[in-house]
Amino acid sequence: MPDPEPVSPFDLQLDLGASDSLRWRHYRGRDVIPLWVADMDFRSPPCVVDALAARVAHGVFGYASAHAELREAITAYLARAYGWKIDPEWLVFLPGVVSGLHAAVRGLTEPGQPVLMPRPVYHHLRLAAEQAPRPFAELPMVLDGGRWILPWDELDRHVLPGTRLLMLANPHNPGGTVFRRAELQQLADFCCRHDLLLCSDEIHAGLVLETGLRHIPVASLGREIGRRTVTLMSLSKTFNFAGCSLAWAVAEDAGLRRALARDLHATIPEPSLFGAVATLAALRDGEPWRQELLAYLRANRDHLLARLSALPGIRCDGLEATYLAWLDCTALGLDDPAAHFLAHGVALSPGRQFGQAGFARLNFGVRRALLDQALDRIAAAVTQLGP
Ligand SMILES: Cc1ncc(COP(=O)(O)O)c(C=O)c1O
Repeated sequence: MPDPEPVSPFDLQLDLGASDSLRWRHYRGRDVIPLWVADMDFRSPPCVVDALAARVAHGVFGYASAHAELREAITAYLARAYGWKIDPEWLVFLPGVVSGLHAAVRGLTEPGQPVLMPRPVYHHLRLAAEQAPRPFAELPMVLDGGRWILPWDELDRHVLPGTRLLMLANPHNPGGTVFRRAELQQLADFCCRHDLLLCSDEIHAGLVLETGLRHIPVASLGREIGRRTVTLMSLSKTFNFAGCSLAWAVAEDAGLRRALARDLHATIPEPSLFGAVATLAALRDGEPWRQELLAYLRANRDHLLARLSALPGIRCDGLEATYLAWLDCTALGLDDPAAHFLAHGVALSPGRQFGQAGFARLNFGVRRALLDQALDRIAAAVTQLGP
């Protein structure tokens, strides 16, 4: 069935099946709606596309150094968006947040020193510990008033002797939680009490959907937590240019910065010049587009939740931020719900990837008509299981 008339630029149907999109290409030639990997189907804002086009037209793509301008622009942005005053010198540029997660575990801990992280969580937090390798323990997230939160009253119980580093995703992927100031303060106190360093992955900071909530960088809470934190950020999720490869770390402590940058320009490449161009353009002119995006994603989220509420066996909580819905499918009684939905033509990320079997993660950063088609298929997949 053709899409209804587009009412927003985000409704436009682009031929991503023919593009190099990892999310689409993986299922090319199959009748599968790909709602797995975390990027969106939308074009980046015109300011980003224009800046990249102008840079491509220049035609010379040698080693680049736009970092001085970027340092200033990011410093101003963090002050403007989050009231977080940093020194431009605190920034370390990286090709991606994943590199930062792995570099943080390897650079900030010694072999044998345990790492602590939430569960479920974006899989590279766990992989960073597994591959370093470092022992690790997990903080099981719990549902409280419709939000996935950390087990505040029993954090201490999960600390292994000698633990050196806590890893966090805020806003949380896959739970969608925006941690509140009081919660972050509790976490900061916990880190100070146990003398832990903190690596805070804040890549989804620009995607707070819930009106009235704000992203708070945990390092902005005060000097004590600031000097023991590495914050990882990128605009690649919000402005949808993950293929352009640029992220940054903020670390007030020079020793943490050195440890984090140890493998840069050796096993970790410099960020891409296209990432720098895209990031600068988004910082300068992207805010109106981001507001339109948030309105569209918010409507997608509300639509998704309304349709899911009519489906027995699937529950979705949280979703204060990100375009990733964490679906509790345990009531369906399936070992692998994602495999069942794939057999019905929708690719979701399996919950096991993030540490929680019985769940699946759905990317709703797509045009609403496609989301509806996917939900029709999910509904059919649930109906097929019978009462
Ligand atoms: C929490 C989180 N961190 C990091 C990444 C990936 O970051 P990058 O593409 O900059 O390596 C993702 C992508 O889904 C994510 O959700």
